[in-house]
Amino acid sequence: MKIDNCVNLDDLRVLAKRRVPKLVYDYIEGGVDDEGGLRRNEEAFRRRSLVPRYMVDVSAPDRSVALFGRTWSSPYGIAPTGGIGYFRRGGDAMLWRAARDANIPFVMSIVATAPMEEMAREAPEHGWYQLSAAKDRSISEDMIRRAADLGIPALVVTVDAPVDSNKERNRRNGLGGRLTLATKLDALRRPLWLKDYIRHGPAMLENWRAYAPAGSNARQVDEFVAGQRPTGLTWADIERFRALWPRTLVLKGVLRPDDALRAAEVGADGLIVSNHGARQLDRAPSPLDVLPALDAAVGDRVALMMDGGVRRGADVLIALASGAKFVFVGRPTLYGAVAGGAAGAARAVDILRDEIEKVMAQIGCPSLDRLGPEFLHRDPEDAARNVRL
Ligand SMILES: Cc1cc2nc3c(=O)[nH]c(=O)nc-3n(C[C@H](O)[C@H](O)[C@H](O)COP(=O)(O)O)c2cc1C
Repeated sequence: MKIDNCVNLDDLRVLAKRRVPKLVYDYIEGGVDDEGGLRRNEEAFRRRSLVPRYMVDVSAPDRSVALFGRTWSSPYGIAPTGGIGYFRRGGDAMLWRAARDANIPFVMSIVATAPMEEMAREAPEHGWYQLSAAKDRSISEDMIRRAADLGIPALVVTVDAPVDSNKERNRRNGLGGRLTLATKLDALRRPLWLKDYIRHGPAMLENWRAYAPAGSNARQVDEFVAGQRPTGLTWADIERFRALWPRTLVLKGVLRPDDALRAAEVGADGLIVSNHGARQLDRAPSPLDVLPALDAAVGDRVALMMDGGVRRGADVLIALASGAKFVFVGRPTLYGAVAGGAAGAARAVDILRDEIEKVMAQIGCPSLDRLGPEFLHRDPEDAARNVRL
């Protein structure tokens, strides 16, 4: 299968899976513990349906959204994902360029494999930066200053990873320790990926280079980063980050109304309701399921966004109808870049855009500000269980 023949995001996943060793695929696709959270995130969307309104002029659907003082061409962005250079060399830049060209935001992970300076140069209006606190807070504060000096428009602070999570696929594959023989043999079956890895070596977590001991190689920087956890992040840190950061501040990983309210109180501009793509607490609820409660709690005081399990344009519309102002995708765009490089990253972005436009027309929604809970249908089983939509 070629990139051009991929008709949906799952095709990109299948193609990506063929390109990289199992170790890499499992790292991207995997969840934690029993991976119940992974299933829950996607099923939350499937339990909901959209009730179409007909006889509405939908000849020119407007999928643009105003958020943080800017109009974006689509209601979704690319979530921060770390280690991209291990999956596809140069993948970070492929994704921020795809985002820039489509006029949507790209969030660079703190464990990106490209420097924030390069992103700020190439995508000054579309590249945001994601921060997880470091044990040594002077590093976090320096990163915030760097991002501020570069003019990066938004800082996304991830709050949902207090300890390293239990990614059992990685442990079985021997990632982070001794690779198993099966893992090594499997890598031999992916010659393209292997050739690149042998030629260039492990990818560098570029944003950390300045803080690790001088002259550290990629592995030593990895070790340094590992030593910066757990971080002990508290609200006092968020207040400090707020004081240091001059522009839009977003907290990522909030799932409770009381935390959402507190975020508004300390001056956050936005929240990404998220369970980290089911990669931290396996028993966390799906973000879509808790979204209405957070919406009821904070209303317009902060911009509510969400991520986790979005695989179709219809999912994006369901999230918006459930109270989100904006949506992010993590794995799908990664798979695009892994499967087809720059063209694959752009393809993932385009697939979602086209699906959104089609479904907007199908449900009689000419612009996204018209979307609300009246478009949502409650699954009878959910109604019986009294699940709140
Ligand atoms: C491979 C991978 C790496 C990730 N790295 C980060 C990260 O460095 N920081 C972060 O806040 N979230 C990270 N996430 C979580 C994503 O930002 C996002 O919350 C999640 O992928 C959304 O779910 P989805 O993959 O179902 O779209 C990562 C996700 C994946 C799949």
